[in-house]
Amino acid sequence: MTARLNVNIDHVATVRQARRAPEPSVVAAAMLAEQAGADGITVHLRGDRRHIQDADLPALRASVTTYLNLEMAATEEMLELALATRPDAVSLVPENANEITTEGGLDVRGNIAIVRAAVARLRQGGILASLFIDPDTQQIEAAHEVNAQQIEMCTANYAEATLGSRGFHGEGSLRAGQELRRLREGAALASQYGLLVAAGHGLTYRNVGAVATITEVAEFNIGHSIISRSIFIGLERAIAEIREAIRVGSDS
Ligand code: PXP
Repeated sequence: MTARLNVNIDHVATVRQARRAPEPSVVAAAMLAEQAGADGITVHLRGDRRHIQDADLPALRASVTTYLNLEMAATEEMLELALATRPDAVSLVPENANEITTEGGLDVRGNIAIVRAAVARLRQGGILASLFIDPDTQQIEAAHEVNAQQIEMCTANYAEATLGSRGFHGEGSLRAGQELRRLREGAALASQYGLLVAAGHGLTYRNVGAVATITEVAEFNIGHSIISRSIFIGLERAIAEIREAIRVGSDS
């Protein structure tokens, strides 16, 4: 089955915040993405509010009709906002103040009590609890131990391995193959534990196909490459392009 695609629209808000202006509207972006075939919308409310703002959450909750996935750190502030917003899913992510983007997966094993408590509160609130982790046996087992319903495997290392110093070197490089194997094994293990499996970070229409061959991966969260491409070819085409790459991978 073809995996679902949640479009991460953070960078629409990045452009808006560059001017502190009303446009481009994240609600309009979400509507267009849904019309273009996105199965869901993902946003990351960061502690520093560099893109998505608190007011975006109720606005998106009121307008997104497919599936709303909120990425956030497991802090009290964020948990309260999530429980007030009631997205369909929350993906708990690590957050460092000075990072350019999320750097690797959450250390569930090292923060077991905090993550377990956060998962319990989300689940009590009727929100699907997902953990963004590296495809690592220890972390997958920890995700199971804290009663998460889903893991989102961090594909950053794989994605980086598909890029060479002079640009795109393809999915076939040795390191990309090794990283893909880690993702494949991680997905199989998570599935054995009954966890749903998603994947994301750094994926593009060029490198997503190989990940889509992993049958357990039922959902992708993709942002940067879709929004970047949309500047040149429009959101609709950028989404169609990546959906087609996922379909080709799933069908192979
Ligand atoms: N999944 C998670 C948990 C993320 O933090 C991000 C980045 O916000 C993504 C997916 C999407 O990554 P990208 O923007 O590189 O597609």
